[in-house]
Amino acid sequence: MRPSRTQTLAMTIDEKVRKTLAELGVTDAAGVEALFGEVRAAMEQERSSLVSHGASSEAERDRLSKSLRDRWLARQNGLLANIDERWLKTSPKELKPSVGKSFNGLRQAAAALEMDALVKGVGLKIPTKVAAVDAAEIRGAGLRDLTLPGYCRPLGSLHPVTQMQREIEQIFLNLGFRIEDGPEIESVYYNFDALNIPESHPSRDDWDTLYINAQTVLRTHTSPVQIRAMEKYGAPLYIIIPGKCYRHDNPDASHTPMFHQIEGLAIDSDITFADLKGTLDFFAKKLFGEKIHTRFQPSFFPFTEPSGEVAISCIFCGGEGCRVCKESGWIEVMGCGMVHPQVLHNGGIDPEKYSGWAFGLGVDRYAMMKYDINDIQLLFQSDVRFLEQF
Ligand code: PHE
Repeated sequence: MRPSRTQTLAMTIDEKVRKTLAELGVTDAAGVEALFGEVRAAMEQERSSLVSHGASSEAERDRLSKSLRDRWLARQNGLLANIDERWLKTSPKELKPSVGKSFNGLRQAAAALEMDALVKGVGLKIPTKVAAVDAAEIRGAGLRDLTLPGYCRPLGSLHPVTQMQREIEQIFLNLGFRIEDGPEIESVYYNFDALNIPESHPSRDDWDTLYINAQTVLRTHTSPVQIRAMEKYGAPLYIIIPGKCYRHDNPDASHTPMFHQIEGLAIDSDITFADLKGTLDFFAKKLFGEKIHTRFQPSFFPFTEPSGEVAISCIFCGGEGCRVCKESGWIEVMGCGMVHPQVLHNGGIDPEKYSGWAFGLGVDRYAMMKYDINDIQLLFQSDVRFLEQF
């Protein structure tokens, strides 16, 4: 039976959302508007009473605003869910547009309940008996109903550098390489001496080293793990070594004192420079696309001989010349070379029997290229608004 006008007026919002529009005697657009007006007023009143009453502790404050949100927004049995179910879904055809419109307006207004601002707006105050009663009232059905759904934590995602690292790792894993790692706090021996960089050698200055003491550094590259792995496994050896490295660089758009490298190392009885070229060309094409060309130019590293610098044809302009490749058509992507016989020897591997190649690349720069990021600082500022884009 349809309730009388006075009965309808006496009903609480909670009672009303359990009835259909017909049962509530709402038959036209004006009635719909009035009804939704009441709902919004009730919501606003509950929100402002929560804000003005305050809470006795932060935990209490969080609990109060959560129960208000649950009461209105819970997917199951929240007031909005009920309104959707009972008023919108069952409304007669001619009323649908106006119910839909009002419902959307209500939903938008309810979004304010989701915001941190609500929590922050609730003042803290010394607990009194009155406050406790009010709080219990506000909590209302929310806390009593233990079957209400819990809160979902927003799902995070992998950091773009981690994503890039994994993508590179996967290409080498598919080629039969294994992943190896080593310490970030490293001895001068592994970071320099064993890599054929004696103390007097000027090339030591190439790496702006952060020293912990005279014998210990924050590793300046992942190359020391070459030696550690040779000692541990001997030959043959096919590994890649991802990890953090540190240099005394001033932060700017392309430098951070901490950055990521991936080292590659292949040692076997018949490894030649052709293997190095073939593997790195294959890698570049897998990562950046089949159209990519690679270019090898002579370079110098004390731990490889000969040494090379690898560039790929610019992934932005295809080699025509653009802002990113500084009109050269090429982007330098790694250092590489044939492992120096002395380094094999230092790692306990007989250079008469074995030869090898190695490369080192900067993962952060790859991520910047791939995701078109122009400032490396963005990667390490932990700003979720930036990071959630990936
Ligand atoms: N370790 C070198 C660097 O950090 C890169 C490199 C690795 C070069 C392996 C050649 C072979 O600059």
